[in-house]
Amino acid sequence: MALDVARIRQDFPILHQEMNGHPLVYLDNAATTQKPRQVIQALVEYYEGYNANVHRGIHTLAERATEAYEEARAKIARFIGSPSPNQVVFTRNGTEALNMIAYGWLRHRLRPGDVIVTSGMEHHSNLLPWQQAAQATGAQIKYIELLPDGTLNQEHYDRLLSEGNVRFVAFSGASNVLGTLNPVKEMVAKAHAVGARVAVDAVQVVPHMPVNVVDWDADWIAVAGHKMLAPTGTGFLWGKMELLEEMEPTYFGGSMISEAHLTGAKWAQPPAKFEAGTPNIADFIAFGAAVDYLADLGMENVYAHEKALTEYAWERLSAIDGMRLFGPRQPRAGLISFEVAGIHPHDLSAVLNAEGVAIRVGHHCAQPLMEILDVPATNRASFYIYNTQAEVDRLVESILHAKEFFGA
Ligand SMILES: Cc1ncc(COP(=O)(O)O)c(C=O)c1O
Repeated sequence: MALDVARIRQDFPILHQEMNGHPLVYLDNAATTQKPRQVIQALVEYYEGYNANVHRGIHTLAERATEAYEEARAKIARFIGSPSPNQVVFTRNGTEALNMIAYGWLRHRLRPGDVIVTSGMEHHSNLLPWQQAAQATGAQIKYIELLPDGTLNQEHYDRLLSEGNVRFVAFSGASNVLGTLNPVKEMVAKAHAVGARVAVDAVQVVPHMPVNVVDWDADWIAVAGHKMLAPTGTGFLWGKMELLEEMEPTYFGGSMISEAHLTGAKWAQPPAKFEAGTPNIADFIAFGAAVDYLADLGMENVYAHEKALTEYAWERLSAIDGMRLFGPRQPRAGLISFEVAGIHPHDLSAVLNAEGVAIRVGHHCAQPLMEILDVPATNRASFYIYNTQAEVDRLVESILHAKEFFGA
């Protein structure tokens, strides 16, 4: 079913404003998405109606808050097909989720000579934690080659796995720069066949298409709530229960123990074991509202909308003289990175901003990828449920104006 974008847009107050004298076109959704009234309202209801700490008090407000907080966890679990809500560990963002794997598992499990396999298309958050863990343990990192079309060389991946000692594999389900959709299920199965554990950076996947974690069979996935309509300060780590039980916590303190004594402590069962201290209660309750919103739209419909919009944008952008588009044509995630010959990406972005069109410019926290692509930076337009073809037209018109302005 096609999304009713006009109706959806009514739910997003921020979209209805002028930016530098033009109606705002927000195309930076891969960085963070805007929030619908329903999510903002969940915050207001919590703070005005039942603000209290969770998992502690037995007074009515505390019980209401705890119930709503845990209900959000259950909604998220259902959204990704998790067998249990207890496999969903709340984190501040996608980055924290990935670091928790590095600190809780890699640093305790890897030995000198062990191999980590990842790729050069990764976001720094899906790279630096493994580099640090490798340095701390003496493990080695091997990188899957990137093909010229922006996909991972699967034969090279097979070869790396067959070279032995691979204990851990990490890759993104979708690249935040190239838009590449990696074959998650197949890559996970290949890693498991050599006995490696696998983390999938699902930050650019879960907000945009149906995901079922049982089907993927990854050992962990990392997700950012703020990129799927939820407030900033939200994300989660999903893990197989046996792995969450095996992992060490990253933070220590209140609410994460089953027993504490002067001589030491025992950890609570997951997810409490990983959620020390007072959590970001209101924002996670609002994350639950965001999941309700997306589930109501239907993730198949969300994906179909973004796919159609991205195909339209690809067609229009590629018709511009001097345009270079990065990554594969199909299949791809709902974002396009590009460069216009003769205009520095920052200059282009500034001209677009002056016309009310908000896109991202820079290395996108993927500097090694910029080195592989041999560019200093790219421009990136990323789409979501409230974007329209007319907005893609505005993007294209502004790029044409910039070309005129710079004589490019
Ligand atoms: C592919 C990918 N992984 C990880 C992250 C990090 O997520 P967060 O900013 O929520 O820490 C991002 C954010 O842009 C991303 O695009």
